[in-house]
Formats: sequence, C-alpha cells, structure tokens
Amino acid sequence: MAKGFYISKAVGIAGIVLAAAAVATIIALSVVYAEEKSKNVVSPTEGGVETRPTTVEPKPTTGEPTSLPPSNEPWNKYRLPDTLIPEYYNMTLWPHLNVNQDGMYIFKGSSSVVFQCLKETDLILIHAKKLNFTEFDGHQANLTGVDGSKPPTIKSTWLQEETQYLVILLNDNLAPGKYQLDTDFQGELADDLGGFYRSEYYEDGVKKVVATTQMQATDARKAFPCFDEPAMKAVFHITLIHERGTVALSNGKEISTENITMGDLSLSRTTFEPTKTMSTYLLAFIVCDYLSIEAQAENVSIRIWARKKAIEEGQGEYALNVTGPILKFFEDYYNSSYPLSKSDQIALPDFNAGAMENWGLITYRETALLYDSAVSSNSNKERIVTVIAHELAHMWFGNLVTLRWWNDLWLNEGFASYVEYLGADFAEPEWNIKDLIVLSDMHRVFAVDALASSHPLSSKEDEINRPAQISEVFDTISYSKGASVLRMLSEFLSEPIFTSGLSTYLNHFAYNNTVYTQLWDHLQSAVVRHGLALPHTVHDIMNRWVLQMGFPVVTIDTSTGTVSQKHFLLDPDSVVDRPSDFNYEWFVPIKWMKSGTEQQESWLLQKTEEKPEMKVNGNEWVLANLNVTGYYRVNYDLSNWERLLTLLDSTPGVIPVINRAQLVEDAFNLARAKIIDTTLALRTTKYLSKEREYMPWQTAINNLDYFFLMFDRTEVYGPMQTYLRNQVWPLFEYFREITADWTVVPKGHTDQYNQVNAIRIACITGVKECLDLTTGWYKQWMNNSNSNPIHPNLRSTVYCSAIAEGGVEEWDFGWKMFESASIAAEAEKIRTALTCTKQPWLLNRFLEYTLDPNKIRKQDATSTIINIASNVVGQSLAWDFVRARWDHLFNQYGGGSFSFSNLINGVTKRFSTEFELKQLQQFKQDNGNFGSGELAVEQSIERTAANIKWVAENKEKVLQWFSSQST
Ligand SMILES: *[C@@H]1O[C@H](CO)[C@@H](O)[C@H](O)[C@H]1NC(C)=O
Ligand SMILES: *[C@@H]1O[C@H](CO)[C@@H](O)[C@H](O)[C@H]1NC(C)=O
Ligand SMILES: *[C@@H]1O[C@H](CO)[C@@H](O)[C@H](O)[C@H]1NC(C)=O
Ligand SMILES: *[C@@H]1O[C@H](CO)[C@@H](O)[C@H](O)[C@H]1NC(C)=O
Ligand SMILES: [Zn+2]
Repeated sequence: MAKGFYISKAVGIAGIVLAAAAVATIIALSVVYAEEKSKNVVSPTEGGVETRPTTVEPKPTTGEPTSLPPSNEPWNKYRLPDTLIPEYYNMTLWPHLNVNQDGMYIFKGSSSVVFQCLKETDLILIHAKKLNFTEFDGHQANLTGVDGSKPPTIKSTWLQEETQYLVILLNDNLAPGKYQLDTDFQGELADDLGGFYRSEYYEDGVKKVVATTQMQATDARKAFPCFDEPAMKAVFHITLIHERGTVALSNGKEISTENITMGDLSLSRTTFEPTKTMSTYLLAFIVCDYLSIEAQAENVSIRIWARKKAIEEGQGEYALNVTGPILKFFEDYYNSSYPLSKSDQIALPDFNAGAMENWGLITYRETALLYDSAVSSNSNKERIVTVIAHELAHMWFGNLVTLRWWNDLWLNEGFASYVEYLGADFAEPEWNIKDLIVLSDMHRVFAVDALASSHPLSSKEDEINRPAQISEVFDTISYSKGASVLRMLSEFLSEPIFTSGLSTYLNHFAYNNTVYTQLWDHLQSAVVRHGLALPHTVHDIMNRWVLQMGFPVVTIDTSTGTVSQKHFLLDPDSVVDRPSDFNYEWFVPIKWMKSGTEQQESWLLQKTEEKPEMKVNGNEWVLANLNVTGYYRVNYDLSNWERLLTLLDSTPGVIPVINRAQLVEDAFNLARAKIIDTTLALRTTKYLSKEREYMPWQTAINNLDYFFLMFDRTEVYGPMQTYLRNQVWPLFEYFREITADWTVVPKGHTDQYNQVNAIRIACITGVKECLDLTTGWYKQWMNNSNSNPIHPNLRSTVYCSAIAEGGVEEWDFGWKMFESASIAAEAEKIRTALTCTKQPWLLNRFLEYTLDPNKIRKQDATSTIINIASNVVGQSLAWDFVRARWDHLFNQYGGGSFSFSNLINGVTKRFSTEFELKQLQQFKQDNGNFGSGELAVEQSIERTAANIKWVAENKEKVLQWFSSQST
C-alpha cells in the first residue's frame, strides 16, 4: 500500500509546522508549502511520534467489557489454526449500484472454497466480517467432500464477531482430505473505504456509484468468507454480476461477458481468468462505468481506468506513458518477467491509502494517478510516478513472494519505498529523483526513530494479532526506515550483488511466503558468489539495524582519528527502557572523504575505534556519510565543524549537495539533542544566501520550522524574520531573473521546487514584492475564473498566501473553485489553501464541513482538520473541535487507519506550554480508549513536555544570535 495521507512530507519532518502569530499571511502559507516542492506522499504518521504498543494492551474494538474471562477456544484466537488450507475459491459477487427498498446499498455473493484438511479437526474457522449468511438446512454453510472424502455433518454454525470468524462446528472429525464449503451471503456496500465498498462522484450532474475494494490488511473477509491470512494463498475464480453497460474488473483478465436476466433485471455477467496462487489481501473487484486507455508492452496489456471525463481530458496519459518503462525497469532489476498477463491501474474518487498493489488491478487515489499538465504541478507528477513505481515494485516483491505474516510488513513496504525511487528515476532520468529519498524518507523517519519510544523494524509474529495491531504496523518506521536501511544495504553490497540475491530470492519463493531472514540468506549467498569481503554476514550486520530501534550518531574526532558511536536520542533526558541484544551498537558502513580527495570506505564495528586515516593535518577536513547512504548522523570535533562551515561559505560545491543538506540537518538535530550548541546549528544556515539548490534550502526550512513554531509569540520572532528575509532575498531575486519575471518555468525539477521555496519564504518574511505577486495573481483569477493565470507549480503557495491575506470573498471564491474542480490535484490544492484564512469564523465553518461527506470527502476529513490546526489561528479551534466531536471522529476513524493517529499528532504538534500539556493530559483521562491512536496520545504528551523544556533552554541564546545577525 502506498502511504496515503496528504499533507506535505516536509511539514511532518520535525512534527512541526511553521506558524507565526503576528504576520499571519505567512503562517498560512506554511501549511501547504511543501506540497509544491516536496514529495506529496505523506506517510502513515505525521509527527515524530508513533510506535507499536508494547505495554499498552489493546482494547476490544466492540462494545464488550474489557474484562471478559480469557477463553482458549480456537474461535477466540485471532490466528487461524494450522488444520486447514485453501486451494481454490469459486465466487460470484453482485454489487448493487442503487439503493434497495430499505435505502441501503448492498452486494450479494456466493462462494465455494475447496480446502485441504491437514490435521483432523471438528472445527472449520473461516474469516467473515459484517456478512449475513443465507442458511442451508439451518446452517450458514454447506460442507461436501471432494475427490471421495466424506465430511461429517454440521453441528452448528455461528458468527464470532470479535475475532471475525464464521465458525462451523462438526458432529465428528474431518479426516485429512479435500472438502468444499459453500456459502451464500449479503453485505452492505457502504462508503467506509474498506472491504467491498462504494465510492461516489457526480458527472454532468448525475450521481455515479463505483463498487470497489480495499482488502489490505484484513478486509477481504468483509467481501466474502475466506481464510484471510497472507500465507493462505489460493487460486481465485471470480465472476462479477453487474448492470449492462458497466465495466467489471478484477485481478485476472476478463474472459467473457454475457447478458443474463435475474428476475426482471437485465444484467451482465463477467468471468475472469483464474488468478495465480495469491493472498486474499491482494484481491480486487470493481464495477463502474469508467473509460480506459491502453497500451501493449511486450506481452502485457496495460490499461489506465478513470472517470469518463478524466480519460477524455487525457488525465491518464502520463500514467500510461510511464507504466511500460517502469515495468521494464523492474523486470531487469529483479531479473524476472512480470508475472501476469495484464496490468490495470484505476483512479478512485474515494480511497483511503495512496494506492493499493492489488495483483493486476492497482487502485489509486485520483491524485496519485491522474495528471493534467494544465493543472498539475511537478510535485503532483513526481507523486504519480513514484506511487506507480512503488505499486509496480510490489507486483513481484510482496505479491509474487509474500511475507508470511504482518509482523514483517516493514520488509514489504520498506522495499517498495526504496525501489520506487529507482523505478521513477528510470522513467524520469532528468529529475535526480533518487537523491530525494534522503529528504522524504530519511529525514522524516530520523525524527521518529530518535525517540526513546520508537520501536524496532521487526516485531515478533505473535505480537501482531488483532486487526488494530496489524493496522498499526503501517507506520513511518516500516515505510521510511525500511527504505533507508535497504538502501544502505544495497549500497554496501553494491547494486549488482543486491539484485543478484534478490533475483534468486524471488525465483525460489515465487507464489510462496517467506520471513525476512530468507532474503538475508539469498543476499548472503550472492555475497559469497561474488567474493565480496564483508566484516560480518548480512544477517549479523542487518540484525543490528532491524532488531533494535533507533540509529547511531557517529562522532569523528579528526584531531586524533578516534571514531565512536552512540544511540542518538533527540531528547537526551529520555529513558530507553526497551532492551536490546546488541546494546544499542551497530555495524556502521562509512563512506567518507578527506579534503575533496577520493571517497573511502570503512566500517565502524565497535563502540570506539582508532582510525588513523581519519586524522587530519592543518586545514584538512573530513566529511563522512557521503550522499547519506548510511542510516546514521555524523558529528565531528569542533575544529572540523569550523573547517566545514568555512568551506560551505567559500566553496560549497566541493561538498555534494546531499551532504550540504545533511550538514544542516545533522547540526540542527545534534543541537536538539544537546550534543552541539544551538548557535552552531544556526550558523550552518548562513551560507544559504549563496545556495541555489533545493535540498539544503528545504532542509534548513524544515529545521527552522521548529523555531517558528516555538517562538512565534515571543520577541525572538522579529529578529528571526529579519534574518530569514535577508537570507532568502538573493534566492527570490535569482528566481525572478531566471524565470524572466515569473513568466517561465525553471528547467530543473528540483529548481522548480526551490522556486516555490523562494516565493514562500519571501512572502512569509514580508517581502512586499512577493505579496503583491501572489495577491495580484489571485485577484486576476477571481476576475475571470475560467482563466487561471497561476502556474500549477505555484498554486498551493499562491492560493494560500492570497486566502490568508484576503477575507470571505477570497475564501468563497476558493470554495466555489474547489467544488467545481474537475481534477483531484487541483481540488486538493484549493482545499488545503482554504485552511490558510485568518478569519476564525471561516475556519470554524470549514471544520464543520469536514463532518459532511457531501462537502469534504471522508478520505480528506482528517487532513483538513490537521491543516487547520497548523494555522496558528486555527490551532485552538481545531483542538476544541476535536474534543467536542471526539465520539464522532473516534467512531469514524478510531478503528484503525493511517489517518487517526495523524489526527491526534496533527492537532497537538504545536503544543509547547504547561497549559496545553494539562489539557492534553485531561483529554487522555476523559477518553479511555483511543483505538489506533493510543500511542499517538502518549507521544503527543511526551513531545509537548520536550517542547516546553527546549523553549526554556534555548530562547535567550536564539534571540541573541538572530539579533546579532542583522547588525
Ligand atoms: C447485451 O445487451 C446490450 C444492451 O442491453 C447489447 O448492446 C449487447 O449487444 C448485448 N450483448 C450480447 C452479447 O448479447
Ligand atoms: C513454500 O516454501 C516452503 C519452504 O519455505 C516449502 O516447504 C514449500 O514446499 C513451498 N511451497 C510451494 C508451493 O512452493
Ligand atoms: C552522490 O550523489 C550524486 C547525485 O546523485 C552523484 O552524482 C554522485 O556521484 C554521488 N557521490 C558519491 C560519492 O556517491
Ligand atoms: C477583469 O477581466 C476583464 C476581462 O475579462 C478585463 O477587461 C478587466 O481588465 C479585468 N479587471 C481586472 C481588475 O483585472
Ligand atoms: Zn506499498
């Protein structure tokens, strides 16, 4: 699954949003800025704060008392017994796209599953959730023998709601052999974004309904009864019944569509080729009246599906153009042909995640698939190409070979989150897209993984059982740390050895399941085959990154050549109570260079080692973790820091651009951790007046956000504004020049991002030329709504600036444009910009809109609330709103989805006063059960306490530094 939640990644990096009480234009701008420049994928959690519960006992999701006596009956356990395994399913599903006589949308289905009994048992457990079964002879299922086996009769059947089983108790034992279980059932085609659900949209004033699915992780059981665990692979024979004239899609190719009648209804019946042996969570069924465009890539037919209008306007073309090359790239990378005969990709108006890698029928949010050059920004385009690459990577890694259980999800998602950059780079070779993993994943997850409450990548299989626990595994650690450590592994093995091991792994386990150590086995064999000398085995090296949380800060003393490592904790006072078998030490691969000479490679294998080669003479300097391929931070002795600062100021080009960004990033975080002085961190931003590259600027802005957030109501604010205005002015001028007064688009992909930074920061810091530019453009658009003069790249920033500067007229115009936007990317920009207003009543009205799905789609509700909270004027309004509407929000989102812990983190991340801390603690007391947001509440409390402390310790120093800069 691709991360879905959609406010900018950069905003979330430090869990902070820039906010300024006095100059409010500005504030609001910050909400959306990174949407323009930074990759728009936002991972499951926003702030730096989520972990898996180890001490918090999850509570039942139904209304049962928490003190039920423990029961050891198999149907009270969340994992299936090892007695039965499915072989194939034959199923027919019929979604009704009109309400029935009770005003409900429903689907009907019948399914038979043929399964093997491996061990004698008198019990059949099959997952089923919210399904009503038709009875056969008084039982909710019918059991027959296959190939001569004779089943006992059924004693009783019932639905076990908490564990989501249809339980079938037999009068006698099933003997080993093959059996068939038949069921007829009906379910609701609700708009709940899970299982078989419905999505709605309007086309030419007519309401259209799409029936679609989202099975991962545990909702296939909501569409039909099934053995709903990833290792229970089977073949699926799927038939869909649908209205004539509508399209039916599933994992396999359509083999026939015939006209049928059911009672007085004229319908169609579409049958699909049987699937490959696959997991239930990768199934998909869709009925809609979409159009498609298609292309043939060697033996694979590629289709892009979307609303008729979107296809007619050409919004699917970009996706179609990049899919073929990306598939080809992965075939080469994996050295394995695409396993299926077709690849469908479809854009859905309502979709919870970013996208879902259903095998052969990938589902997307519209913003992650549809591109319109007149409306979409380059960051929208980047999101599309990377999400497509992410999902296509899963077609092999995840789908062909599947992890046995959800505890290993990090390998599946981390892998796809790493190679998405490689696939996207192949499709857009000019973009330098591979560099951006450092900003979008590493910086982001460093913030989370530096907390004492972080958790290791890998969890034990028996710790992840309930659906809510499974949902919780889909977090930033799994995605972004997974991606970062796999990139590090590929770098120290070298790509040829990495892909060689990967290829034998995929071939060996095709159509089967694995645990993550089996990948290490194959990589280790590749290491041996290629004769690579490693200091330890792949297992031993990777265990330290996978089994213990966190990462080290490597300190290089260039005066002595002493190199040491230490578990990096953002809050040095925090207590790590999670034990580690490796004592929080790592085997650290270090790429480094001395004074611009050739790159060298070393390993740090102990806590402290003497490395005479890193000792310097005179003006020599050392720079380590070149291109930040290693998952760690670097600190130096002060003299080396000084030499690097001098270098940044005189000849920054000697330092690779990724490392220029990293020096800023490491310095700010080392300062947060009290390892170096805050003013040393601030000094890394001084050279920015000469910097034109995106990554260092973006990193500085992300880190300075925290300063704005903490100091926006203090006397620090003025001098800070002045400093930043002076720093950004040359950049603003630079872009005005190279864009011929803002009339042409900069050539480079990241230059386009940095142009947005230039405008945003200039406007934030009150550069009048900037404000005139943004409000002028918006006024022009208001004057003629059919002709938007604002370039798509700049729209988020310009809309936000103008709406913040304006009043109800600007807001209402924006709302009108939002409602009539025909492409989701544009709607998204306006929706976010509308949270920028400074009028409390407009913000309150907007908060109310989030509860009305006719105004704000459910998928967008929490991100809208969070954006409002990021606005300094909206902060307290959103917090009040969340508390007042807690029950509703909890019922809608609390069960388990990306967005719920985001919501809690999002509305509290600016908290930095004792008063706010008390409110938060009270809130926790008043509401016992936080569902999937349990940890987010704990983390918010921890973060608030840390903020209070930080402000007390740093305010004076920071004030003095900023003040001294403008004299
Ligand atoms: C099915 O019915 C539709 C109209 O209801 C018709 O256009 C189509 O030709 C029919 N298809 C077949 C195979 O009879
Ligand atoms: C799946 O892998 C296991 C070992 O990891 C092996 O025993 C089993 O035979 C494999 N199954 C198939 C269908 O290849
Ligand atoms: C660092 O990355 C840049 C840009 O991606 C690349 O050109 C350069 O060769 C890399 N340098 C090293 C030492 O890997
Ligand atoms: C508004 O648009 C009209 C044409 O649509 C144009 O003549 C007029 O100058 C515009 N006014 C402003 C203030 O831009
Ligand atoms: Zn994924």
